[in-house]
Amino acid sequence: MSLMSILKKKSNKLFFTTPSHSGKFFILHKFYQWYKADISEVDFYNPEDLLKEAEKYASKVYGTKSSHFLTNGSTSGILASVLASCNLGDKLLVWKNAHPCHKNAGILAKAEIIEYDLPFNKEWGIYEKLSVEDFKNLLIKNKPKAIIITSPTYEGIVSDVEYFAKIAKEHNVILIVDEAHGALYPFSDNLPKSAVNYADFTVQSLHKTAGGLNPTAILHTNCDLDIKKALKLISTTSPSYPMLMSIEANVKFLSSSRGKKKIEELISNIKEIRNKLKNLDFYGDDITKILIKKNGLSGYELSEILYNRFDVEDEKTNEQSTMLLTGIGTTKKMLTKLKNLVNI
Ligand SMILES: Cc1ncc(COP(=O)(O)O)c(C=O)c1O
Repeated sequence: MSLMSILKKKSNKLFFTTPSHSGKFFILHKFYQWYKADISEVDFYNPEDLLKEAEKYASKVYGTKSSHFLTNGSTSGILASVLASCNLGDKLLVWKNAHPCHKNAGILAKAEIIEYDLPFNKEWGIYEKLSVEDFKNLLIKNKPKAIIITSPTYEGIVSDVEYFAKIAKEHNVILIVDEAHGALYPFSDNLPKSAVNYADFTVQSLHKTAGGLNPTAILHTNCDLDIKKALKLISTTSPSYPMLMSIEANVKFLSSSRGKKKIEELISNIKEIRNKLKNLDFYGDDITKILIKKNGLSGYELSEILYNRFDVEDEKTNEQSTMLLTGIGTTKKMLTKLKNLVNI
């Protein structure tokens, strides 16, 4: 049985229940199929039956203690992880330039937020990772209850999460990894190592790179902290059933041979493009985030050229470089067009 299977069940009952559109009244007709799938069948606070099964299945796929479907993005996964980890006044280490949800989580938990900095790479205009030594020193100096690491960063800089987890454990610190941009990692040996099997909590946005709908995400745990209680503090009691179904389907797809093949094709197509574009410099630990720069051009100038001359819209640009984000939906055709960039 799957979350999807419940929709196939025929019923002659009259539904005097929420949602009151009853799957029959479509204010926005374009989305009529969404309305049809929009049922209130799941108790999100205490997932029973099908959702529980789907989350258990996901946990098995990822090899985690538990995996939780999120219909409010990695943002909600970070909030829940911090709420499960920190109480009033506990020290929480947060990267100074992290996604705002990291500090917001500390505020909600009434934790003492301590900011740390990352080395800045002037040549590429991006932040680098913490060295293992600096990570260790941060823990020794601040003695925090928990630390949040962003890995990968937006631009694809990946930390040594396995080693960080080992050190964090030795110092009795809870490790939370924001892997929002790394949802494909568990499914390919040709991508960086995922934190899902090492960190106490790892959050992944399915919508960013893994073909999911906005803002589907997953929170993975490898510890005994009460994440369900924390999720209750921030979750709606009426989660979107179509979104839950899409998360279930997304996990099944990524772990299927079809999904894995698609990821490998993406990687090998990008490799091919990189080999062609000798006129550009590439950087980063994650090949699917195409971080480029061109001698003699600022990142902003390069971004403008990409947009105006090649109809290519980048994901993020800084003074030195620009990044093209790819993922499960990036077609070979789109990537082949990048070969034209040889003319920049
Ligand atoms: C590094 C990072 N973490 C967390 C988030 C939040 O993710 P979501 O949009 O899934 O809530 C983002 C979103 O841009 C992000 O870039």
